[in-house]
Amino acid sequence: MKRTIGNYFPIILLVLCGFVIVLLTFNGWNYYDTPIALRAFRSDYQTMKPSGVFSHGFGIAGSLMIIIGVSSYSFRKRINRLRSFGVLANWLHFHIILCLLGPIFIIYHTTFKSGGIAAITLWTMLSVAASGIIGRFLYVLIPRNLNGTQLTMEEIESEMKNISEVLQGYPVGILLSQTIDITFARFQPPQTFWQTIVTIIQLEISKIQARNKIREILSWNKIAPEAALPLKHAALERAALTQKTFVLGQVERFFHNWHLIHLPFTIIMFITLIAHVVVVILLGYRWIF
Ligand code: HEM
Ligand code: HEM
Repeated sequence: MKRTIGNYFPIILLVLCGFVIVLLTFNGWNYYDTPIALRAFRSDYQTMKPSGVFSHGFGIAGSLMIIIGVSSYSFRKRINRLRSFGVLANWLHFHIILCLLGPIFIIYHTTFKSGGIAAITLWTMLSVAASGIIGRFLYVLIPRNLNGTQLTMEEIESEMKNISEVLQGYPVGILLSQTIDITFARFQPPQTFWQTIVTIIQLEISKIQARNKIREILSWNKIAPEAALPLKHAALERAALTQKTFVLGQVERFFHNWHLIHLPFTIIMFITLIAHVVVVILLGYRWIF
């Protein structure tokens, strides 16, 4: 299991979002902290109100981020001719970055107040972004190739066979295989919804335990670095695949149902966004143009 940008992605995302939140809060803290009824008396009201140059700009920037984040991923995923344009998994990272940063900008655009049709846009946007976080957890629980395409059962079995061949080549590899099998031995495929949730959490804990044991075994046994690395990758991959196959059927079903929420909410968000933009343009708000 080679280290890819995906391994560091949650950290990069957290740092980026944290940085933007600190920056935007620092920029307007005094304004956001003022009760809504008193804001009109502030000297910075003309720049900070939702139609002011700052906050209006955040609305436009945030909306563009969401539009680009959604359309780029959807087009790359669905249009065959775009297959050569980068790895799909990286386009999903791009989708998540823009569709998490975009809503953050939009929240500062509203200056923490909501009303009219824009309130529907705001709440559907927040629901879609929150559901996206759940979707991302489900997405990574489904075995995929580097391009992000889901592996078939045959591909999973063939991958497991390749991993076993690597591990069986060394006595320590056999020990690693046995350790992984013992770590996951207590699991049964779950039957009900709640059993599945509990099993997913327990499997995640067991995977972390398996990873720690793999590292321990490899550091005890003094193996040449050129043999240790493939063994470690194979063992980690085996632990990850074992974890995922236990709940695969249920996770696939959850993920299918998740799409049924994520997509319609996106459509409602965009329809009400168009209405909101048309209304503000008709009201004469033009930003800097
Ligand atoms: C997902 C995107 C967006 C959301 C959720 C959103 C939400 C909101 C909210 C909640 C308000 C405050 C309403 C109130 O004062 O009660 C607002 C105001 C406003 N928004 Fe947006 N907005 C979005 C995008 C945009 C865009 C793209 C533009 C410009 C093209 C824009 C322009 C404005 C303007 C000018 C106001 C002030 C309206 C007024 O004071 O009457 N918004 N928006
Ligand atoms: C306002 C914000 C967002 C909107 C409008 C949005 C919209 C969409 C849409 C329309 C799709 C379906 C793409 C397709 O199949 O063609 C999608 C997929 C997805 N989104 Fe989002 N999204 C948003 C935020 C997020 C966030 C914050 C995350 C994760 C933290 C996320 C994670 C995902 C995942 C994992 C998929 C599934 C990819 C797949 O099945 O191929 N989304 N999103």
